Parts: sequence; C-alpha cells; structure tokens
Amino acid sequence: MKRIGVFTSGGDAPGMNACVRAVVRTALYHGVEVYGIMRGYSGMIKGEIVRLDTTSVANIVQRGGTILKSARSQRFQTKEGRQAAFDQLVNHKIEGLVAIGGNGTFTGAELFEREFGIPTVGAPGTIDNDLFGTDYTIGYDTAVNTALEAIDKIRDTADSHDRAFFVEVMGRDSGYIAIPCAIGGGAEIVLVPETQQSLESVIEQLQIGRKRQKSSFLVVVAEGEEEGNATHIATQVKEAIPELDVRVTVVGHIQRGGAPSAADRLLASQIGIAAVEGLINGMRSVMAGIVDRKLVYTPFHDCITRKKPINQSFMRMMEILST
Ligand code: F6P
Repeated sequence: MKRIGVFTSGGDAPGMNACVRAVVRTALYHGVEVYGIMRGYSGMIKGEIVRLDTTSVANIVQRGGTILKSARSQRFQTKEGRQAAFDQLVNHKIEGLVAIGGNGTFTGAELFEREFGIPTVGAPGTIDNDLFGTDYTIGYDTAVNTALEAIDKIRDTADSHDRAFFVEVMGRDSGYIAIPCAIGGGAEIVLVPETQQSLESVIEQLQIGRKRQKSSFLVVVAEGEEEGNATHIATQVKEAIPELDVRVTVVGHIQRGGAPSAADRLLASQIGIAAVEGLINGMRSVMAGIVDRKLVYTPFHDCITRKKPINQSFMRMMEILST
C-alpha cells in the first residue's frame, strides 16, 4: 500500500487530532504517503483532499476538535454519493482509509468497502463510548471530566439554594457519560436508557430524601433517557412535588470540546498507530480498540450491531452510595 487517506466523521471528540497525528506519522514511518480528507464523507465526495506531512500535524496533539473538520453526510448514504467518493479516491490514488468516528462512520465504511473494495480500518472517536470492541473511545474520558466539572459547580449552587437540579449530559443512546458523572458528582439518581427507572420511582426516591431532611438533590439524566429529556422529567417531578425548587441544566456541546485528557491523548496515539499498521498488514473493515488493556481489531459489523453493555457494578455503586 503506497498511499492512504485519513478522515474524521460524525460528532467531533477531544483526541481526534492526536489520532490524526499518530496516523500521519505512522504512515510516514512505514514509507506510506498520507492524505487528509476534509469534512468526512462529505469532503471525500467533493474531493477536498490534501497531502499531509509530518509538520501538518505538528502542535495538534493537545488541541480539541479536529483539524480535518467533521460532518455527517446525507449524500454518502446514496449509491451515487458513494460512487462519487470512490471516483475521488481513485483520482488521488488512495488505496486504503483510516476512518476516525463512531457508529455512523463505520456503517458507511463497511458498505463502501463491500461495494467498492476500498479497505478501511476504524479508530473509535466519539465521546459517547457506545462502541462494541473497545473499552473506551477517544474523547470519552475528556467529555466525562468536562461534564463532571460542570456538575461540581451546579452542586454548589444547588446546595446554597436547597434546590433539585436535573442535569442532562450527552450520550445519544447510552448512559456511558451519565453514570461516572453521577457517581463522581455524588448524584442521588441517574437516569440512563439502558435501565428502566420509572418516573414514579424517581419521585419516590426524592420524597424519601426529603423525609430524611435532605435539602438539595442532583439527578443526572442521559439525553437518550427513555422517560424523556431532563426538562420533561423535571416538569413532571415539579407537578408531583410542588414544594421542590426545581432547575434544569443541559451541559450540551461543551462536552465535545476542549483539550483532550492525558488518557485520551494516549489512547488516540495508540489506536492511530494500530489503525495504520492494521491497514498496511491487510486488515479491512475492522476497528482498532483496546479491550482489557490489549489491542484488538473488531469487525465493523460487530461494532455497529452489538450493544456494549453498561458496567453493572457501576449501577450497584450508585445504589449503595446514593442513599
Ligand atoms: O455522538 C456524539 C454526540 O455528541 C451525542 O452524544 C449527541 O447525541 C450528538 O452527538 C449530538 O450531535 P450534534 O452535534 O449533531 O447535535
């Protein structure tokens, strides 16, 4: 393999730049040319493709966001869009790809490989940590720390004003961000899509706390929670317990930005090297990940279709510590 392309796609995540840097430098180390594809599949279709050298990725290991920019492409979901992307890769003589992203990115890459035979190795880049085939995704650790910092601040004001705060954190279909935030932030309740906790039981738990003279409460809600978003849940709680002074905070996109943590920079670097070396060694349609501290390559199909279970011992910790 003489020339590869690298791109970032889907929601950005802190550490994506560190991964791009590792991909570029590993390719060059092995004598392979490397091209950056801007704005994910969208830039691939339009031919926004630039040669990268070792200095192109200097001074980015510590930066949040992605120098390659990111996008979610509707057009790549059509055969016509994928054909246009393939034509651009052929024009640029790109023989293999490293895709840094999440579920949607790998769904596209798997289909693309099947239709056009372009080998792709994935690097898990998403704050959600919802990918099967790796214990942690690039950006997750930073996002949890960012959300936790916000929660600590909310706790101060909740305590001063004797209020109940419903704090919504990201995680489209998963509670991976919410659970460590709830444990680390000393929350009374965590609501995540993986477990079913009824509104009635939330109200009951808050009532029990009130009887025990607790004056402030923290409820961490994952945005994908089935009972609804934090505002919806808080409104219903207020109707049931009118005396409770309720507030809602949506932590939002600050969870996606900022300098990556040490753990994310290390993970991104390790995975970036593994992705390129996997590609050079003939791997295709797999994601490089770390499971039980070991490097593993998992087929895209499994990463996309298999649900990564939440850590049940964390739920038990919540149960014990939130009383
Ligand atoms: O997948 C990462 C993520 O931040 C999710 O947690 C969230 O649901 C989604 O992206 C938000 O996407 P957008 O930036 O397009 O609003």
